[in-house]
Amino acid sequence: MTQDSLTSDHPGHTPHGVTAPLTPMSLGQLLDRIAHEWETRNKIFDLPTARIWAPDGELDLGFEFLGRPCASPIGPAAGPHSQLAQNIVLSWLGGSRLFELKTVQILDELEIQRPCIDMQTIGYNIEWSQELKIPESLTEYVKASMLIDILRNWEPLRDHIGPDAGPHVFDMSVGYDLAGISSPEVSAFIRGMKDATSEVDALRSEIPEAFAEFRDFDFTTVLSDTLTLSTFHGCPPDEIELITKHLIDEHQLDVIVKLNPTLLGYETVASIVNDQLGYTDVSVKEEAFAEDLQFDRGIELIRELRDYAHERNRVFGIKLTNTLVVHNNKQWMPEDTMYLSGPPLHVLASTLLDKLAVALPGELAIPGHDGNIMVSFSAGITKENLADALAIGVNPATVCSDLLKPGGYGRLAPMLKALTKEIKTTGATDLASWRSIRQDAAVAAGHANVASEYASHLRGAGVADYHLVANEKLPREVENHLEMFGCVSCNFCITVCPNDAFFSIPSLADTGLDSMENSRQQYLVLSELCNECGNCMTFCPENGDPAVVKPRLYTDAEVFEARDTPGVLIGADGLRATGIDDESFDLIERLLASQKGNPLGG
Ligand SMILES: Cc1cc2nc3c(=O)[nH]c(=O)nc-3n(C[C@H](O)[C@H](O)[C@H](O)COP(=O)(O)O)c2cc1C
Repeated sequence: MTQDSLTSDHPGHTPHGVTAPLTPMSLGQLLDRIAHEWETRNKIFDLPTARIWAPDGELDLGFEFLGRPCASPIGPAAGPHSQLAQNIVLSWLGGSRLFELKTVQILDELEIQRPCIDMQTIGYNIEWSQELKIPESLTEYVKASMLIDILRNWEPLRDHIGPDAGPHVFDMSVGYDLAGISSPEVSAFIRGMKDATSEVDALRSEIPEAFAEFRDFDFTTVLSDTLTLSTFHGCPPDEIELITKHLIDEHQLDVIVKLNPTLLGYETVASIVNDQLGYTDVSVKEEAFAEDLQFDRGIELIRELRDYAHERNRVFGIKLTNTLVVHNNKQWMPEDTMYLSGPPLHVLASTLLDKLAVALPGELAIPGHDGNIMVSFSAGITKENLADALAIGVNPATVCSDLLKPGGYGRLAPMLKALTKEIKTTGATDLASWRSIRQDAAVAAGHANVASEYASHLRGAGVADYHLVANEKLPREVENHLEMFGCVSCNFCITVCPNDAFFSIPSLADTGLDSMENSRQQYLVLSELCNECGNCMTFCPENGDPAVVKPRLYTDAEVFEARDTPGVLIGADGLRATGIDDESFDLIERLLASQKGNPLGG
């Protein structure tokens, strides 16, 4: 299967150009689902216990995020992994302790085109802010925070997360202009995140019997008091300045400004992407550079905002980087422009960090500088480069594209294990002392700091890992038409879905599907959680779109009735189907009945 052979106009998809609405599961449903999965499959939201991270008692991976303690230096970058409550919980289980939450902006009824994520090789997307209404986003973050509070104290998990899961930080993200950010709606969102007492209290009654001991729990109510400003493309420098000052003055927040790779200038970016890294098909959008912040003005702005924050006893930081604007030459996603992430962005962001470190001597909060401008990072972080990126001194290294590859959230714990191993070989017992060792080694090798050492490595031998040649392999394909029942059971649809919209049921004897060759598992879609982003379609080795072909289940009668596409409602009084033939309905019924109770809990 190639992406060329797929379109977003499959029967079953919402019509082209119309956003499939997400209907988040309630806190009660999510907790029921946790209890049920744990009892029947020893998983939480489809994450097996082997992929839950337990901190190594001999190594402290903690750091301070804008002054707040954080027990591990990784987490999801603003994107599909930090929007719904179960996504944030999955990240936390994997070992994330810093969550850059999905960007909230005033335009909360945007029609995002589908498919909107393309991780076939490097990374492209066309989505750029929350798909929920602003108050719904607040509720999702409150639910996520309550779920983490519960799970960190839940006895059955103790053996898997260790005696102390350590502190975590929710970092808000907002965009994209001052008018929107100072609107009553976004202001109420920020205030709600700073004091979520009423939201938390309103949700207590949803806590089901299995977790009754937590109904009166002392839940976190200050969900967040830090914010990363997503400037995105075309946000004028003066606007960035005004927004940051507004956030500091009006909301007393510590603020990070997320910078764009365009700061490097068109010639440098095009030369890195096209010539140095060999992505000759990538057409960098030159027009976008003129609209974006220019390097010299960027330096001025960073200093000014650092001083402004400091004078008001606030902390300021920068984040490298958001995605790169390119022409949509692939035309798999339906927009003229798309946003590049992953391996090439890693080289761009590392190059930019080195350039900033030279232009801001002694001013960044990285080894060799020891200034007070904190640097956060998101650009092509993988298990292989995490340690090198962290050695530079970035706090934290956040991830998006890599988590959209097979394994999904299950890729986080191996990243932390590899990092732990690397640090322990040096004899260091914490992140800071390990960074000093790396800084001394960089200086001994003739570099000013690790940032400069790493940028020079990426210009030399290190370039190979980020070059087209290392990143052009397409996902595996098999010559088979995807059917509603039976498939190669690779599990990819489950793991590449950031929303955990897929789950599987074993093809046991009582399902009537046990005779299907090679189909050990049957896959089903939780329609309300599927926003048709296209990522499962990219990675499914068979020919077809799992989000459309596999049985689509609904738990919300209103949503079920509003859609005119095939599906099955799991209602209080049994199953109800639309557009499904009798034989298939019978199999779905038997599959669901083969599970102890409702497979979704409750
Ligand atoms: C599908 C997708 C959605 C994203 N949404 C946002 C967003 O809402 N706000 C934002 O600031 N960045 C967003 N980003 C950018 C990421 O936060 C991150 O900065 C970028 O993808 C680089 O990291 P990566 O190479 O690990 O993907 C998104 C990226 C992707 C791939």
